Amino acid sequence: MKRIALWVTIALSVMTFSCTKENTENMAENNETALEVLKTRRAIRSYESRIPEKELIDKVLEAGTYAPTGMGMQSPVIVAVTNPELRDRLSKMNAEIMGRDTDPFYGAPVVLVVLADKDIPTYLYDGSLVMGNLMNAAHAVGLGSCWIHRAKEVFETEEGKAMLKEWGIEGNYEGIGNCILGYPVGGQPEPKARKADYIRYVE
Ligand SMILES: Cc1cc2nc3c(=O)[nH]c(=O)nc-3n(C[C@H](O)[C@H](O)[C@H](O)COP(=O)(O)O)c2cc1C
Repeated sequence: MKRIALWVTIALSVMTFSCTKENTENMAENNETALEVLKTRRAIRSYESRIPEKELIDKVLEAGTYAPTGMGMQSPVIVAVTNPELRDRLSKMNAEIMGRDTDPFYGAPVVLVVLADKDIPTYLYDGSLVMGNLMNAAHAVGLGSCWIHRAKEVFETEEGKAMLKEWGIEGNYEGIGNCILGYPVGGQPEPKARKADYIRYVE
């Protein structure tokens, strides 16, 4: 009996060791993939008109909500705009701020508007990190994205304020950025060379 118990213990130990080793190897592989995503994401400026599957949009949004925020206060909110009329209205408002009549969203069918609560001191950093997570997550699931600016100015207009009210966003919110989203057309743009003195080690 004792001998059987010993063999079972040995077998379990071997299994646990090999599972842990496999987990560690998988994690290392996943980390490599994550780093590759961070390096290869690019601003996409040409899109298909079809709206990506909701499961993909949800994955991107969820990643956005896991961005770090000052003291974990979660000051930002994300408004996912998939309605074509609303998307066009936001595009027009954004273009008007630039004094242009082109589409600043480059034909992307989805706009994730990030706003953050100005009453929280770290709101601007919090919102920017959410934008970063959204763009990287978009790339990870095979979608294109780009930060489109002027969300601040758009939501400072009377029309923008009325929109926020309509969406049930009340309080001291400031527009941080628009993350446009969709299936990219064309290849992945090449990144600019990184400047030589980007990183400075102090040892
Ligand atoms: C704060 C911020 C504002 C930006 N605003 C715009 C914008 O209004 N329109 C645009 O086409 N790209 C905009 N971009 C995208 C940048 O131009 C782009 O990230 C940059 O050229 C580097 O390219 P990459 O993202 O492919 O590395 C913005 C990016 C950031 C971070």
